[in-house]
Amino acid sequence: RPALAGAPWRLAEADAALDEVPELRDHILAAIAEDAPANPADGGVIRRGYSAELDELRHLATHSRQIIAAIEARERQRTGIASLKVRFNNVFGFYIEISKANLHLAPPDYERKQTLVNAERFTTPELKELEAKVLDAEERALDLERTILATLRAEAAAAAPRVRATAAAVAEIDFYCALAETAVARRYVRPRFSETGEMKIVAGRHPVIEKLAEAEAGHFIPNDLYLDRGSHRMALITGPNMGGKSTYLRQAALIAVMAQMGSFVPATEAVLTVIDRVFTRIGASDNLARGRSTFMVEMTETAVILNSATERSLIVLDEIGRGTATYDGLALAWAVLEYIHDRIGAYTLFATHYHELTELAGRLDGVVNLHVSVKESGDQLIFLRRVEPGSADRSYGIEVARLAALPAEVIERAREILALHEKKEETVSEELEAPKRRRPAGPELQIRLFEPVGWQIAERIRQLDIDNLRPVEALQLLAELKEELGRR
Ligand SMILES: Nc1ncnc2c1ncn2[C@@H]1O[C@H](COP(=O)(O)OP(=O)(O)OP(=O)(O)O)[C@@H](O)[C@H]1O
Ligand SMILES: [Mg+2]
Repeated sequence: RPALAGAPWRLAEADAALDEVPELRDHILAAIAEDAPANPADGGVIRRGYSAELDELRHLATHSRQIIAAIEARERQRTGIASLKVRFNNVFGFYIEISKANLHLAPPDYERKQTLVNAERFTTPELKELEAKVLDAEERALDLERTILATLRAEAAAAAPRVRATAAAVAEIDFYCALAETAVARRYVRPRFSETGEMKIVAGRHPVIEKLAEAEAGHFIPNDLYLDRGSHRMALITGPNMGGKSTYLRQAALIAVMAQMGSFVPATEAVLTVIDRVFTRIGASDNLARGRSTFMVEMTETAVILNSATERSLIVLDEIGRGTATYDGLALAWAVLEYIHDRIGAYTLFATHYHELTELAGRLDGVVNLHVSVKESGDQLIFLRRVEPGSADRSYGIEVARLAALPAEVIERAREILALHEKKEETVSEELEAPKRRRPAGPELQIRLFEPVGWQIAERIRQLDIDNLRPVEALQLLAELKEELGRR
């Protein structure tokens, strides 16, 4: 507590709320044994010296043998009968036995109890009392412990609201201490908040990945982030698999949350703006039990974001649309980004493998492209994990798959198929000219999205049997094809 003296507001409040409930504390310290067993039924919970009655019962329970031996020795001395015995049996309890030969030495306070052939048995008031005490001393000791404990428990229960309030204060102090300790140990900085809506994170780090990287003797590559209310409202992040896109997204969201909860943040400088909520759509967590497929969950969450985010929100979307067919996914992602840009205006980070989306930066004034860099060296792929302006040129998905030790045959075949597809590829963006965007998506737009231009025409040409084609037929066909293209 001395460390809390003069602490600022929240800590001072927490300090003031610390109620040590001294009477209960003292009572517990006095009553409960240092080495109390976990289960009170075993006894030994109450400290020695707390209750004279309990101490005596315990003494009796554990020392009855010694007590009997002591009485025996004392009575032998008093009567001068060396063979005097103090014994116990279930019928008569404790008794003193004297042989017939020594009977004349028995003192008058001995009460005759039983006569045997060679001996006489007696009792005394002292023995009777001892008997009553010893026989159930253990049971009574446990009983008494229970009673004491119940009293103490009732007292504690009555003080529970005070104890809880103190626990809450301790928790809060602990929370701030943890933040402070982490901030120092991990070299966090104090964030500033801008009034202009500018966000600038210099050399930001992911607090968890950074620690994991250190544990594996690796090192974390810090990255910058700049967002504002103008031309940098949204950042589209492309780059290879394993490049660090998801990490970059999460680190931005974490830094925003940490700053707003009162923590220092993992960066060398951080200027943030107050945001109302952070929305994330990350990872593929399906919910089969609740009747939702992976893609359904993805879309449901995206719907929530689009329906609830404001221009003061931070939206983090990690590869939305990848849960379905490529063109559907691309079309959805494109439309979602446009919607956020035109209707919501929230700060948005969007990681994607759809390179077509990078064209949005040229079309929407608030979107910028970022990419995580990678270096190819021979057939090696080096992840630099540096986030830089501009879009990435390739996905390197197959290279990453190779690193993951897919069979060489699969990798080779994938390369072939990729090469084939890249030849055929048509960018969808051609079809999505800006003026059309505002129009409801009619059938025409949809057909073009899913059937690249010229596909049917190419098929017709492929099936031509040139050897049996007369010149006039060829001309006619050319005219038809030209007309067809004109219609598109
Ligand atoms: N800045 C960084 N410094 C060091 N290591 C990093 C950094 N960013 C990411 N990593 C490491 O790279 C791994 C992959 O990162 P991440 O999952 O962010 O890649 P990704 O680009 O999202 O990949 P994918 O496209 O497959 O989703 C992380 O698990 C982390 O260990
Ligand atoms: Mg990722």
